[in-house]
Amino acid sequence: MTPLHIFARKKRDKSPLSMLSLYDAPSAQIACEAGADAILVGDSLGNAILGYDSTLPVTMSDMLRHTGAVVRGVKSSSRVDVAVVADLPFGSYATPKRAIKNAVALLQIGAHAVKIEGVNPDLLQKMAREGIPVMGHLGFTPQSVLQFESVVQGKTSEVGQRLARQAAVLEECGAFAVVLEAVTGEVAQHITAQLKIATVGIGAGAGCDGQVLVWNDVVGLSPQTFKLAKAWANTRQIWLEAAQNYVGEVQNGSFPAPENGWNMNDEERAKFSASHDEIEIETLDEQPF
Ligand code: KIV
Repeated sequence: MTPLHIFARKKRDKSPLSMLSLYDAPSAQIACEAGADAILVGDSLGNAILGYDSTLPVTMSDMLRHTGAVVRGVKSSSRVDVAVVADLPFGSYATPKRAIKNAVALLQIGAHAVKIEGVNPDLLQKMAREGIPVMGHLGFTPQSVLQFESVVQGKTSEVGQRLARQAAVLEECGAFAVVLEAVTGEVAQHITAQLKIATVGIGAGAGCDGQVLVWNDVVGLSPQTFKLAKAWANTRQIWLEAAQNYVGEVQNGSFPAPENGWNMNDEERAKFSASHDEIEIETLDEQPF
């Protein structure tokens, strides 16, 4: 059974699904241990890890490398069946042919599904025919950041109705779930009630079937916490203190301590220093005075 069934099961049981967007093996392992239902290898990779100021520069090779790392992290955990969804990055699904080729590459590396932003019925149907499970993404879609006037979507009835129609099309075209990002609570709740597939919200209120947040926000690694997120730890401060202590101990000579390294036994040390003296003498002889 595919791990993706968790989305339908959680919706049916009215039990909130927890998903984390993360990018590496150790974080995936921790998320699995923490009981997360699903992992997204989001193209927020661009902002969270690669130091870009948007998701637009993220490439397929970035996504393949990080999806592979996450899949290995899940497999090394005690919960090998956690669902892994990978984002198709900007430009990688501009044509159905390109989308299918890139989605296949992500599935072959071990993702169970791909996520794409927006609604393109022709593309979605072709992907469904190829057997590619697709998660939709509506509301604020970061790959279209250059087109948005504001982040929050669905503040008016007109936009709310448009989002509800788009969500219905995603379901009709075979998507197994849909992310609703920065969508007003009323609209997200309406879409959740209208759809048979699960909605996973980020900044879309408590009325969704599940929630997704970015790892860096959850563990407090991001420089600032966004309104739609919450930090449950202050990892940035912990890392800062660790790095400061390391730098300080290197500078004052207390690291490395004897127990952080290895030594020769007395006999080998004596031989080594004798050979070292010989080498120095030979070197000196060769000097052209
Ligand atoms: O890239 C990402 O992490 C995402 C989530 C924020 C939904 O798309």
